[in-house]
Amino acid sequence: MTYSRITGTGSYLPENVLTNKDLEKIVDTSDQWIQERTGIKKRHIAVDGQATSDLAEVASKNAMEAAGRTADDIDLIVVATTTPDKIFPSTACLLQRRLGIHGCAAFDVQAVCTGFVYAMGVADQFIRNGTARCALVVGAETISRLLDWNDRSTCVLFGDGAGAVILESSDEPGILSTHLHADGAYEDLLHVPGGLGNGLEDLAVEMRGNEVFRMAVNTLGRIVDETLDANGMQKSDVDWLVPHQANIRIIQATARKLGMDMDHVVVTVDEHGNTSAASVPLALDTAVRDGRIQRGETLLLEAFGGGFTWGSVLLKY
Ligand code: UT7
Repeated sequence: MTYSRITGTGSYLPENVLTNKDLEKIVDTSDQWIQERTGIKKRHIAVDGQATSDLAEVASKNAMEAAGRTADDIDLIVVATTTPDKIFPSTACLLQRRLGIHGCAAFDVQAVCTGFVYAMGVADQFIRNGTARCALVVGAETISRLLDWNDRSTCVLFGDGAGAVILESSDEPGILSTHLHADGAYEDLLHVPGGLGNGLEDLAVEMRGNEVFRMAVNTLGRIVDETLDANGMQKSDVDWLVPHQANIRIIQATARKLGMDMDHVVVTVDEHGNTSAASVPLALDTAVRDGRIQRGETLLLEAFGGGFTWGSVLLKY
């Protein structure tokens, strides 16, 4: 049996930092409110001229180095992003050129905050059916470009960043299962109204935060059950929860659902806020590099976001 296995991880956060105190000068908010309601302390914001592919490039190089792989080894590139550099070519193609890779399939996946989980699901299929052997899977965003800096209900929540993994075919597990879902009925609860269909004026995130919060908690609870049931596993079989980093209270609710101590939940939301598709690989890379996540351990990756989209990846690291 062929599995896809993570052989290297990488990430990158732009150097420019915006703290909660900085935000107090921009909108009517407070460090205390932001920390208590979200767990966020700061976020990293791409500077002018720094695009999603710039962040993706650094994260990808870090992941390739960790896996001991070069450009010649990569035979698939999947980039999860909602904030592409251009309408086209895809950010995956722009990244491919930067990395000096030629000829392999390269494309973007757009599932907002669930993007990286979707990208892992897609790459896993390519590897398990033998179409690819060494995939570069990236979540990268400059979501700050889609914020209304006068809207305190959204601008305090998000930040920019990138995370990446190298996924290789292996006889050893590996990704055990992926579960991907969407329901477009909830478009109005979380969206950017503008686009080529509606005109490019209204390009800022709009969110009914409270309703999204409740949906996220309930839906992520269900995906935990679905994932464990599909694998015949118990809650106690999961060593690490690597959740989407949107709000510490949503993360805590999922951990409670798993009966998991917060010591086994990777939390990085305090450091970078909600980086959309970058958040899961950023958290994963952090816990791999600081030595918390060890080879052979079982990881549950999950996310929920605009669409609505939601999903999970259960894997042996
Ligand atoms: O990643 C994709 C999915 N997105 C999410 O998962 C985000 C989900 N939603 C959330 O994380 C939370 O709903 C928020 C953090 C966005 C908001 O927290 P909340 O506890 O749901 O607050 P709320 O929206 O019910 O607002 C409570 C109060 C309101 O004031 P009143 O009406 O009670 O007087 C808001 O106007 O907090 C006020 N408020 C703020 N106050 C200070 C909203 N934003 C701010 C702010 N600073 N930045």
